[in-house]
Amino acid sequence: EIIEADGQVLLPGFVDLHTHLREPGREDTETIESGSAAAALGGFTAVFAMANTNPVADSVVVTDHVWRRGQEVGLVDVHPVGAVTVGLAGKQLAEMGTMAAGVGAVRMFSDDGHCVDDPLLMRRALEYASSLGVLIAQHAEEPRLTVGAVAHEGPTAAKLGLAGWPRAAEESIVARDALLARDANTRVHICHASTAGTVELVKWAKGQGISITAEVTPHHLLLDDSRLQTYDAVNKVNPPLREAADVAALRAGLADGVIDCVATDHAPHAEQDKCCEFAVARPGMLGLETALSIVVETMVAPGLLDWRGVARVLSERPAEIVGLPDQGRPIDVGEPANLVLVDPDASWTVTSKDLASISANTPYESMTLPARVTATFLRGRVTAQAGQVRKRD
Ligand code: DOR
Ligand code: ZN
Ligand code: ZN
Repeated sequence: EIIEADGQVLLPGFVDLHTHLREPGREDTETIESGSAAAALGGFTAVFAMANTNPVADSVVVTDHVWRRGQEVGLVDVHPVGAVTVGLAGKQLAEMGTMAAGVGAVRMFSDDGHCVDDPLLMRRALEYASSLGVLIAQHAEEPRLTVGAVAHEGPTAAKLGLAGWPRAAEESIVARDALLARDANTRVHICHASTAGTVELVKWAKGQGISITAEVTPHHLLLDDSRLQTYDAVNKVNPPLREAADVAALRAGLADGVIDCVATDHAPHAEQDKCCEFAVARPGMLGLETALSIVVETMVAPGLLDWRGVARVLSERPAEIVGLPDQGRPIDVGEPANLVLVDPDASWTVTSKDLASISANTPYESMTLPARVTATFLRGRVTAQAGQVRKRD
C-alpha cells in the first residue's frame, strides 16, 4: 500500500494528557470505541482518559477495564487516569499503588472537576504519588470560589450576568500546589491553564526550580469571552473562556515553553445537557478531531511555533511528562512507528455530524480550519486515513 505524502509533514503521534471518554457511565455521549476513533482521526496515538466516569476511576477494576477496552479497540493507547481520592473530591486517598501496579499501569492521577481542596490531603497525595513515581494532574478549580461566584471576571460575562469562575479560583490553587510541590520535593502538573496570571505563576515556579508542568487547551488558545454574547451553552467550559489578553498570554507562554503542552480536555456532552440555560448546561467541548487545526490556526499561522514546535507541544513534551517510553520521541531507526502525517495546506469546514464522536458539542461548527491529518500510524499500523478510521482486520 502506498500513501502519497508529497508536501506533507510527518510528526510523532500526538499524545493527549486530558481526554474524557465517558465510559463507564455515560456511553450515550462517548465510548472508549467512539473516542478512540476521534483520537485516531485527530492524529493521536495515546490519550489519557480522565477519572470522572461513573463509577469513578478510583480503583484498579475501573482503570484496568479502561486500558483493556482501549487495547481491544486498538486505535489508540487509552491510558487510564486514576482518581486521587475515593470518589471525586473525596476525603480519603485512593489506593494509587494498586492502580499503578495494574495492567492499566496508571501513571497519572487527578481529582477531575474538583481540586483536592484540603491542602494537607494534597500534600499527602503529592508525597504518595512521588513515592510511586506517578504524576498528579491538578485541575486548579478552588470549589469555594467557583460555587456561587458572582461572574466571570471578563466584562462581557459580567455584563451578561453569567455566573462563573473568577481567576483566583484557578490561580490560588496553582500557587498553592507549586509551593506544596516545592516543600514535598515532588512534581505537579497543571491542567487547562486559562489565565495570564497562571502563566506568570508557572513561570515563577519554574524559575524557582519547582517541578511544575502545565497544559493549555486548543479552545483557550483560540476563543475568548466575546463568544458568550450569544448565550449559547456550547461555549460553556471549565475553566471558562477568558479575555483576549489571556488568550495572548497563553499563546506566548506555549511558544516560549512556560506552558509545556497542548491537551484537548475533550469533553463530550449530550444534546439535552447543552441546549438549556447557560447556568444549568454542562461544561465542556469536543476537542480531539480539531486539536491540530486549532494549534496551526493559533500558533503556526501567526509564526509562534514551527512544525518542530508542533511536535514538541502535541507529542514530545506530553510523552515526557507522563514518561511514556514508546511515544513522542523523535523518529529514529528501530523505534515504534507512532506517527501522524499532516497536510499543512489543506483546509476543512467543521461539521459536527461528520465527527466520529457520539456527541456534537463542538464550538467550531461551520468554521473553516487549516491543516488536516491525512494518516495516523499506531506501532506501524494505519489507524486513520483520509478521514476514515481503519479498524484492525
Ligand atoms: O469543561 C470541562 N468539562 N472541564 C473539565 O475539566 C471537565 C469536563 C467534563 O468532564 O465535562
Ligand atoms: Zn478540569
Ligand atoms: Zn477535563
